[in-house]
Amino acid sequence: MTRGDKSIEMQETAKKTVFPEDFQWGVATSAFQLEGSPNADWATWDPVLRDHPQITNHYAVFREDLKLLKELGVNSYRFSVEWSRIQPRLDTWDEEAIAHYQEIIDILRSYNIEPMVTLHHFTHPRWFLERYPWHRGESIEKFLRYTEKMVSTLRNVRYWITFNEPYVILIGGYMDGCMPPGLHDVPRSLVALKNIFTCHGKAYDIIHRYVPDAQVSVAHNMSVFAPWKKWNPLDRLLKKSANYFYNHSIINAFRTGVFIVKFPFSRAVEIEVPIKDKLDFFGLNYYTRIHLRFNPFKKMGVELRYLDIDGHGLTNLGWEVHPRGLAKVLRYASRLDVPLIITENGIATHDSEEKVKYMKRHVDVVERCLKDGLDVRGYYYWTLIDNYEWLQGLDARFGLYRVDFKTLKRSSTSAATYYSYLIQSRSKI
Ligand code: BGC
Repeated sequence: MTRGDKSIEMQETAKKTVFPEDFQWGVATSAFQLEGSPNADWATWDPVLRDHPQITNHYAVFREDLKLLKELGVNSYRFSVEWSRIQPRLDTWDEEAIAHYQEIIDILRSYNIEPMVTLHHFTHPRWFLERYPWHRGESIEKFLRYTEKMVSTLRNVRYWITFNEPYVILIGGYMDGCMPPGLHDVPRSLVALKNIFTCHGKAYDIIHRYVPDAQVSVAHNMSVFAPWKKWNPLDRLLKKSANYFYNHSIINAFRTGVFIVKFPFSRAVEIEVPIKDKLDFFGLNYYTRIHLRFNPFKKMGVELRYLDIDGHGLTNLGWEVHPRGLAKVLRYASRLDVPLIITENGIATHDSEEKVKYMKRHVDVVERCLKDGLDVRGYYYWTLIDNYEWLQGLDARFGLYRVDFKTLKRSSTSAATYYSYLIQSRSKI
């Protein structure tokens, strides 16, 4: 701990913790963002990756990187397995790649760190995207074969995330077009969503068949929405619709098996999805609050901005830091009546003192929610080391450890020191 951290230390020691002893303190990563993959759709999607195909070179130096988890003192680690490494061609399973991920799990177990494995974190093998993208029915069978292969082969994993941020896949891939397959096609996006939900429901059963005490969820991105101008009824209507679609429709779908899409000025569409109660906990990723208004000149007719209303500043990506929003989305999610786990929360900034503040403010909110009786079981900081950020390249800087992208050297930051301190102090009885 450096001299600058002293005040934080005092604040921490004065506290009596409400965090349960088995609270999952973790960090979250995704395979592609750390290690790239030559056969992934994203490898050719973003020109930035031409000069950095291995990104942080984590695939080669993962043993060293995993030691950082031990140094942090986390008791859990969320990471993803890269489908395009495991199944580089439709008829080929790469057993070495599978063994690689098994070694990660074995190392984690030897450190007493609980693995949480994400099967799908945005990327696909190129053959999948080209021939069986999500709006095609065959996508379901292809994903389930991959799921079954992983679940039947990987040992000692209880926590599984089927899909990271299904709505981001849809909005990015099928509405806004900024992610593969790069479409602007709402009807197809709804077919894709139905197929993804179908995969989740069936994958849930497959996982439980092989791992009876498995804990399975998606990791859903939740945000707080606000009208651009409070006095404007149209902005308020948009806020309401966005909040329903982004935060509540998935909760309702898990409760009822029906997904209802209702965009402003259009009729509601009801889609049956086989996911009723297919959830052992609910994983949610929370980052920010978004202000909205209609604007016909913007993609999808919606314009968004971030305002620094709380005075906590904006991040490197321009996002508002809005810790209170975490309590709001946790309360929304509590309607599911399953344990809640914050599977991602983090800030992009070069300033690690800002990272410390962000983490402390959000963990304080979690603490208040626990006091209010919400069943929150874990908090995973995004992310371990600086990585590739999907739309922004290599300079977002979410990491607790800094990566110099020229030398690929990792170095600790005060945010890493602070996170281990926070874990220790809040784990005390
Ligand atoms: C995604 C991560 C991403 C992070 C920051 C989350 O929505 O799961 O992959 O890096 O946000 O943008």
